[in-house]
Amino acid sequence: MAKRAASFICQVCGAAHTRWQGKCDACGAWNSIAEEAAPGDTLPATLRGGRKGRLIALESLSGTSEDAPRIRVGISELDRVAGGGLVPGSVLLIGGDPGIGKSTLLIQASAALATAGHRIIYVSGEEAVAQVRLRAERLGLAGAAVELAAETNVEDIVATLAEGRRPALVVIDSIQTMWTDTVESAPGTVTQVRSSAQILIRYAKRAGAAVILVGHVTKDGQIAGPRVVEHMVDAVLSFEGDGAHHFRILRAQKNRFGPTDEIGVFEMTGLGLAEVANPSELFLSNRDRGAPGTAVYAGMEGTRPVLVEIQALVVPTSLGTPRRAVVGWDPSRLSMVLAVLEARCGVKLGAHDVHLNVAGGFRITEPAADLAVAAALVSSLSGAVLPPDGVYFGEVSLTGAVRAVPHAMARLKEAAKLGFTRAVAPEAKGSAKGNGNGGAKEEPPLAIETVSSLGDIVAGIAARGGRRPPRERQEG
Ligand code: TYD
Ligand code: MG
Repeated sequence: MAKRAASFICQVCGAAHTRWQGKCDACGAWNSIAEEAAPGDTLPATLRGGRKGRLIALESLSGTSEDAPRIRVGISELDRVAGGGLVPGSVLLIGGDPGIGKSTLLIQASAALATAGHRIIYVSGEEAVAQVRLRAERLGLAGAAVELAAETNVEDIVATLAEGRRPALVVIDSIQTMWTDTVESAPGTVTQVRSSAQILIRYAKRAGAAVILVGHVTKDGQIAGPRVVEHMVDAVLSFEGDGAHHFRILRAQKNRFGPTDEIGVFEMTGLGLAEVANPSELFLSNRDRGAPGTAVYAGMEGTRPVLVEIQALVVPTSLGTPRRAVVGWDPSRLSMVLAVLEARCGVKLGAHDVHLNVAGGFRITEPAADLAVAAALVSSLSGAVLPPDGVYFGEVSLTGAVRAVPHAMARLKEAAKLGFTRAVAPEAKGSAKGNGNGGAKEEPPLAIETVSSLGDIVAGIAARGGRRPPRERQEG
């Protein structure tokens, strides 16, 4: 076999190049390429040499396999996002900005499991044992029988794990600090992270222990360097939130053992992370009821309805090109809603700056928020206050029609539970043909004002008074 030269690996996307260059052709990152040992050098001897393969027993799909009971952590927000608990032998990657609370969440999870009688090992590559202990003391968890180590060498860690009773969970905080003897490059490089992760994943599968890896996130939201690790692990969770707010959201991005649309909501308190069982109450806690430009959106996150307030501010622009600023929603969706308002409803916003904010730092991913956004925009423009006891949901199409969205009943029930008495929404899907199961149609828990086009909403808000939309003003 020809000798392979060292290769140049982009530390952002993992692409290999034959020579050093300033910019990675694959992902466009600058100054991200570093020289590393060729991947061939990291292959086990059995793959490099011409060893004759051993026969593998092939099995059928229907065979019985050892049932994998999930280990419930007891922190239900975490259990739900993981798909009902941790699966023994699986590897989970948790990513998040520094200081968001990953270590806090994991020490709390470790302590809960240890208290339930499981063997838990927590390896910190970033903090000394004393620091981890200090945090545990502050959280009132110092009594839990978690076994701690401050170590970064993967071979030493795996050797230690093999001793004694099989652990139920091993936490590695963080994967970027780990290094293995088998590769030359420095800790934190793609090759090191990938090789270390590989060894830990192999350990998890072989020993049947659940392993949680902590990963750092870069400025642009990727789990730093080792995007490659995401493909190797069974589940990728991200822990998000911003410094200005106390709550944190755990989201599944990939999960081989569960759904990916669930979220877990936590609040960072002086005593660690507290679960938030009813996030809508938290997001709506500081509502400004009498102000124009706010609408409550009845959204869904996975199986759970979440109500959030959408705030819009529409002001005459002082610039040649009006500003469009969005926090917590997709800017291209905002452009679309603005275009539909202008083209189909005659609401002229071309000379106005538009600021849109999802209250509390929440991030909405569903198109079902279109209607609430449109209502908030028109309310801000016209100065008409929307009814404070109403919620909005529905997807707006380019024709100006308002389309039905899934889970209408769950949204309505959550709104009713929180004291809302009316909803502005499109006609529910399938309501003309019964609700699919042929049974009696479920009675909605609150009054529904059905809208079929965005024009209905605009007319309804304009009729509420305040200043009138500009076009009508011109005509009148
Ligand atoms: P940490 O878990 O160390 O974050 P990560 O591991 O993601 O980098 O969390 C650190 C932050 O959380 C720190 O800024 C202080 C805050 N914090 C609290 O507010 N309350 C607490 O009880 C704890 C332990 C931390
Ligand atoms: Mg940490």
